[in-house]
Amino acid sequence: MSELKNNEERGSWGSRIGFILAAAGSAVGLGNVWKFPYLTGEYGGAVFIVTYIVLLVLVGFTIMLAELVLGRHSQQGPVGAYRAIKQKWAWVGAIGILASYLILTYYSVIGGWIIKYIVSALSGNFNTTDTEALGGIFTTFIGQPFEPLVYHAIFMIMTLGIVMGGIQGGIEKASKILMPALFIILIAVVIRAVTLPGAAAGLEYMLKPDWSKLNIKTIVAALVQVFFSLSLGMGVIITYGSYLGKGENLPLSAVQIPLLDSAAALLSAFAILPAVFALGYNPSAGPGLLFITLPGVFAKMPMGSFFGVLFFVFVLFAAVSSSISLLEAAVTYFVDEHKWERRKATIVLGLVAFLIGVPSSLANGTFGGVTFINGMNFFDSMSFFAENLLLPLSAFMLSIFIGWVWGIDKAVLEATNNGKVKFGFEKIWTFSIKYIAPIAIGFILLQNVITLFK
Ligand code: TRP
Repeated sequence: MSELKNNEERGSWGSRIGFILAAAGSAVGLGNVWKFPYLTGEYGGAVFIVTYIVLLVLVGFTIMLAELVLGRHSQQGPVGAYRAIKQKWAWVGAIGILASYLILTYYSVIGGWIIKYIVSALSGNFNTTDTEALGGIFTTFIGQPFEPLVYHAIFMIMTLGIVMGGIQGGIEKASKILMPALFIILIAVVIRAVTLPGAAAGLEYMLKPDWSKLNIKTIVAALVQVFFSLSLGMGVIITYGSYLGKGENLPLSAVQIPLLDSAAALLSAFAILPAVFALGYNPSAGPGLLFITLPGVFAKMPMGSFFGVLFFVFVLFAAVSSSISLLEAAVTYFVDEHKWERRKATIVLGLVAFLIGVPSSLANGTFGGVTFINGMNFFDSMSFFAENLLLPLSAFMLSIFIGWVWGIDKAVLEATNNGKVKFGFEKIWTFSIKYIAPIAIGFILLQNVITLFK
């Protein structure tokens, strides 16, 4: 009875499809549309894609299911979830929350850039395919001190607004409409991009692996991206899992969410990289890739400015459905653990995240020369700290926890709803959570710690 009451206060998902779409909504975001394509360009094309998919299957799926299991078992956010099983492990949950919160601070800066691009596309600013000119527009914009901050603020306010609405009212409702819309527009853009004259070289680049480009850096980048893209290692999926009913099929969800997520990542890469080649641009140009080449694609599309606006609007939705999950982890923590009111928690945490994001925004201009970790500016240091250190650390601890501390048999019972659900991958999963995942993640973590002291 007390459990029921607890659920009523916390809220829960209204339907299975609502949960899948919200989880996919968290997963599909700037990581797919913005980051995956530029990483693919930076790390040698097809080699990166193949490495990514291998790690996704081996490690991503494993950790995804582990988080769902832990969250639903305890019906609590990450800290409570660990504590419910082993008091001493609560800090691991806290690391995850800290990480997602830090990611939110600069995620919102990029989200702001997307809003700016909607405005620019609306005012017809992108009617050129000259990548030099488009590059100039982009770097000038992000280098300004003030304007990007305004957009950063707008993005954060949108995030707050939805999180304040709570689980069903806000997050679930929004995801149901926005996710399918994003897929449709992505497909339209891919069709235009791959039929541009000169796009073939880009397709080859994405499909034919050049194995000489495979090195440790590629593997590290790919695994970090698997976590980032699937919203793993940060308590978000634990949190979402905690709102799931005991009848839900977890193994199935742990397959469906990564499938949707990779589809979005691959579509985005196919929307961007062939166009990079067609427009004679440099694939390893980094974070600006989305903002510089896509406007060029729209300039070559019939009704391009219309599609341009539509595209950036849907990317914005994808980004917001991710940022709400980044904020939600911290909000759930303060609501559950410190009995804060949801409204208060949301406003305070959102405001502070905005402020911590300010130096990240300035790091692209005024503040760019100031370096922190290993010669990286504030923006890059934050992302290195959160994504390359905290995120693998929390996923590593999670796999140890599930595989060795809590007991794999109990985890399997939860995964199968006490044996009621078919779990075809049981053997693979238990092997992976005990051995493959911790070894692979531990290796990556070590690489990143070494980087720290270089
Ligand atoms: N997965 C999102 C993206 O690809 C970003 C994100 C949302 C995230 N929530 C997360 C990353 C939690 C890590 C952890 O854009």
